[in-house]
Amino acid sequence: MAVSDFIQNNKDRFLNELLDLLRIPSVSADPKFKNDVFAAAEFVKESLIKAGADTAEICETKGYPIVYGEKVINPEFPTVLVYGHYDVQPADPYELWDSPPFEPVIKKTEEHPQGAIFARGSADDKGQFYMHIKALEAMMASGDLPCNVKFMIEGEEEVGSDNLDKFVIENKEKLKADVILISDTHMISMKDPSITVGLRGMAYMEVEVTGANRDLHSGTYGGAVANPINVLCDMISSMKDENDHITIPGFYDKVADLTAEQRARLNEAPFDLDEYKKKLKIADVQGEKGYTTIERVGIRPTLDVNGIWGGYIGEGAKTVLPSKASAKISMRLVPDQDWHEISELFENYFRSIAPKSVTVKVIPHHGGSPAVVSDSSIGYQAAEKAMEETFGKRPIPTREGGSIPIVALFQKELETDPILFGFGLDTDALHSPNEHYGVANYFIGIETIAAFFKHFKTLSSQ
Ligand code: BES
Ligand code: MN
Ligand code: MN
Repeated sequence: MAVSDFIQNNKDRFLNELLDLLRIPSVSADPKFKNDVFAAAEFVKESLIKAGADTAEICETKGYPIVYGEKVINPEFPTVLVYGHYDVQPADPYELWDSPPFEPVIKKTEEHPQGAIFARGSADDKGQFYMHIKALEAMMASGDLPCNVKFMIEGEEEVGSDNLDKFVIENKEKLKADVILISDTHMISMKDPSITVGLRGMAYMEVEVTGANRDLHSGTYGGAVANPINVLCDMISSMKDENDHITIPGFYDKVADLTAEQRARLNEAPFDLDEYKKKLKIADVQGEKGYTTIERVGIRPTLDVNGIWGGYIGEGAKTVLPSKASAKISMRLVPDQDWHEISELFENYFRSIAPKSVTVKVIPHHGGSPAVVSDSSIGYQAAEKAMEETFGKRPIPTREGGSIPIVALFQKELETDPILFGFGLDTDALHSPNEHYGVANYFIGIETIAAFFKHFKTLSSQ
């Protein structure tokens, strides 16, 4: 039976198995879900065995385990390494979901007329890495697996992949492959398939500003003693100028500028600004002057407050000058910015702009390197051909704003450029309430992955 017939004949089961995985609340950020994260790892291991892998194992780390599995049909054949993550973002705030985040339901949407699976992790990344396991199963069942395949599915991506570097460095031989596939990004649309060739990096900081040694009566002291919330807001707003240019000295020193031709090519991607605004219900976009929306997200760094707190936020009014105020601030980075260096520049600048009336604490969290991957490697060409076959249109290369720090690590340690073979859409509400993944995206993804194996084998032996 041909691979695509096998997929057609097993559609319901392929879908139901993914729904079972989505029912496990594997939230890596919240210790409350610890057992569920381990259960998800077990589920992935079992799925690999059922799909026909020779071996699948749970590799312990200091944190959540990495599931490794492989199917080697012939050591002479090319080897594909698949990376993905079985952990998910917290579902909060729960009250903004139309259906419970860990009870998947399928509903039609404007973008997904054939239905989408609503559940936390459906698009990021369970629905996407699971396509690879189902593609393996379909290729095995139809006796048509053209390459060896290895899987490395981790459980700490959403919290910074703290234990992955060590695992990759210590297991270089085991992970050795001719190409790496990662399905954890978007395409432009079902009509306009694309392959991601750039991702931003990240430096994540937390800051705390302290005024007086205790909360104060805002009448007795207001106007005479620093209010840390006011001070923190002033400090944050001074980190960008009127052109939304970041003011941290040295911040842009290493940013690689693109040539006019590269920028023009990037902007040729289909993009409708009015549609973009309409979907987000905003009257206008906002960002660094002199750049288009595609460029602001794809090739320019940025600085954003992710959370800010302090003072009284309960019912009614309380008159108080709080003693402390805090914020979580992330910077998205582009080549060739170094996240350690940027974290240091941030810290120095933040300290330098603090008035004497307060003291500040800067706590760096995780970071990750930006990455640009080849758009002409054999792997890329195979991915292009596979998409052309299943979507009927040649995909275009794009740069995305999100971060997958493992990409740069793979480039450095395994000397292989991953293929960012994502099948989600940017409207799939990743990290938001009502995250969803198109049913059609899931199935065309499985078919395209199988087509990739075929083309990669052919191109590799030419
Ligand atoms: N899958 C995303 C990354 C992504 C999203 C890439 C959309 C391209 C488009 C990944 O799971 C993620 O959320 N990464 C984090 C970074 C990490 C260091 C916590 C991110 O981008 O915030
Ligand atoms: Mn992801
Ligand atoms: Mn994510």
